[in-house]
Parts: sequence; C-alpha cells; structure tokens
Amino acid sequence: MKLLVTGGAGFIGSNFIRHWLRENPKDNVINLDLLTYAGNLENLSDVENRKNYLFIKGDICDTNLVHQICKGVDIIVNFAAESHVDRSIRSSEDFIRTNVEGTRVLLDAARKCNIKRFHHVSTDEVFGELGSKDPKFNETSPYYPRSPYSASKAASDHLVRSYFYTYKMPITISNCSNNYGPYQFPEKLIPLFVTNLLEGKKVPVYGKGQNIRDWIHVDDHNRGVEKIIKNGLIGETYCLGGGNEFTNLEVAKKILEYMTFTEDEIEFIKDRPGHDHRYAIDYSKAKKTLDWGPKIDFKKGLSETIEWYNTNPKWWKKIKSGEYQNYYKEQYG
Ligand code: NAD
Ligand code: TYD
Repeated sequence: MKLLVTGGAGFIGSNFIRHWLRENPKDNVINLDLLTYAGNLENLSDVENRKNYLFIKGDICDTNLVHQICKGVDIIVNFAAESHVDRSIRSSEDFIRTNVEGTRVLLDAARKCNIKRFHHVSTDEVFGELGSKDPKFNETSPYYPRSPYSASKAASDHLVRSYFYTYKMPITISNCSNNYGPYQFPEKLIPLFVTNLLEGKKVPVYGKGQNIRDWIHVDDHNRGVEKIIKNGLIGETYCLGGGNEFTNLEVAKKILEYMTFTEDEIEFIKDRPGHDHRYAIDYSKAKKTLDWGPKIDFKKGLSETIEWYNTNPKWWKKIKSGEYQNYYKEQYG
C-alpha cells in the first residue's frame, strides 16, 4: 500500500507515521506537510532515512502539487490542520484556508486519482459542548461547533461526507477526543503545564479549571485510525475516546503531584472566550464494530508522557525558543 499522510510532521501525524511503519513495514508512506509553526521534522528523525518513507514540504491547498503527489497513492490520511483553539480565536484565517479549502483540494485530487480510501481525522469539538450530566457524544450527535477551530473542522467533515454521497468517494471520518503523549506542541494543556514546571514557571489554568476533557493517549487514537482504515465501512464515521474525563484542575493537580510540586504553582487566569464546558465520547460503535478501545491507563500514560518531556528537554526547549524550524533548513537546505 502507498499512503499519503498529510500533516505528518505534527503531533498526532508523526506518531501515526511511526505507528504505521512499525505495523506495516512494507508500505510506502509519503508525508506532505507545510511545516507551519506546529510542524517539526525532528518528530520523525528515527524514520527519515527509511527507503519507504518520503517527506515532501508542501501545502495541502496547492492543487498542482497535491494532484501530482496523489498519482499512485492508495490511501490518504488527512491530519493536516490548524489545530489550536486559542489561535483560532485570535484569527481564523489560516483555519479556514487549511482546514476547509485544504480538505477540498485533497478531496478533488483523491477523486481524480481514484484513491481507494480517504480517511479524515477530526475532533469531538465539532459537536459543541456538553453539560455535566449530558450523555456523551456519539456518531449521531448533531454538529454544533462553538469556536472558529471547531467550526472549520465541522465544515471539513461535512465536505468529506458530501463527497461520499455525491461522488461515492470511499471516505471514512474519525472524531476523537483530546490527545496527549510525546511530541505534542507545548501550547496544548498537558505539554504546556509539564514544560512550564520544568522551567520553573507556573501553570495557567483558565477560569476556575472546571471544564472537562476526555483524554486519550495518541497511540490509542492512532491504533483506532489504523483499524478504521483497514476495517471501517466506507461512508461511516467513528467516534474515538479515552474514557478519561477530568476537569482541567484535576489534570493540573495530577501533573503537580507526579512532579512533586504543590498547588501553589497553579495560576488561575482569564477564561477562554466561548470555552466549551465538557467533551466526552461514547466509543461503543468502534468497540462493537472494530473491536477497538483505548488500552492505555491515564495515570500510566500521563506519567510516561511527563517522563518523555523530562528526558527530551532539547526537543521542547528548541520549540519554546522558536529554534526548531532550523532543522528543516539544516537537513534539506
Ligand atoms: P498539530 O498542530 O500538531 O499538527 C498539524 C500539522 O499540520 C503540522 O505538522 C503542520 O505543519 C501541518 N499543516 C498545517 N497546515 C498545513 C497545510 N496547509 N498543508 C500541509 N500541512 C499543514 O495538530 P495535531 O494535534 O497533530 O492534530 C492533527 C489532526 O488531528 C488535526 O486535524 C486535528 O484537528 C485532529 N485532532 C486533534 C486532536 C488533539 O487533541 N490534538 C484531537 C482530535 C483530533
Ligand atoms: P487545549 O489543550 O487547548 O485543547 P482543547 O481546547 O482543544 O480542548 O485545552 C484543553 C483544556 O485546557 C481546555 O479546557 C482549555 C484548558 N487550558 C487551560 O486551562 N490553560 C491553558 O494554558 C491551556 C492551553 C488550556
């Protein structure tokens, strides 16, 4: 099989490429990534010399490039996106361009090249927010995005699904909850808090820290994406979640406890505008039809993730200082 993975230099995409090449060592993987602020080729330094792996620096909105790359590709896995809610609040321009227009370009290229499977990686945030006692989101939940980020992802999901109904395109979609694990950009909650503490800084909790997220280890997510690509039914959506609902304050306290800091390191700051109260995923469809479920216990996954940041200061210190993008220039000129 020949896979085109978009956004493979980001957090989830890089872990996916490593996972796929480990599980499917004979497949060829092309990684198409624009290397925005979130793209980092150091995430894949362990696979970059493999003969069946090729990195192409490019934009998913670039029609000519995407059409050229798609020739001979069997499967497209679309991770490329602008992914941070707070940035989308500052400006939604790049979110609409990459998440909506970029997905449209990929879909048209996939159609022209008769791709066997187009898997679109999406988020539970498209469903909006849950109240504390509401049932969890599932595949039948109505779309109700409330941030520019989630609105752009919702638009991309709708486009992908429309190509199935209109053109019989072989698509699948996954909507996953909040990921954590190694190589996550330190603007997101867990890596930001861990690296701040390692730098002697406080952890900034929005509002009162009562918002709830359902945490899943990135390896569990990627195992789910692989199952969907291999066994998921064409045209279907699958919700993937970790079964780990915690308030942000609870997550902060777990990190502080593991790293032996006191709660004095918590700084409550101004809340995010339109801050979704709760996300939670009912993954029973994936469990029943794909025999998929999360395997990594949150306590274990979180402590291993903290250890990863603790033992890889070079990786995140470069990012926090903005130096990491020189890697591409050094490697590729
Ligand atoms: P990320 O921000 O770490 O990585 C995104 C990658 O996409 C980067 O490497 C970036 O360079 C690349 N990219 C951005 N614009 C591009 C463009 N125009 N052309 C080519 N490449 C481009 O994001 P992530 O956390 O790894 O998320 C990956 C996908 O998973 C996204 O689609 C996101 O919506 C989805 N998702 C994320 C989470 C989460 O918790 N992080 C949860 C569910 C779903
Ligand atoms: P984040 O990692 O940005 O993911 P998302 O907004 O996509 O869920 O944030 C996770 C939760 O943590 C969210 O409720 C916002 C909160 N948060 C903070 O309290 N402080 C922070 O510095 C950040 C980045 C997030």
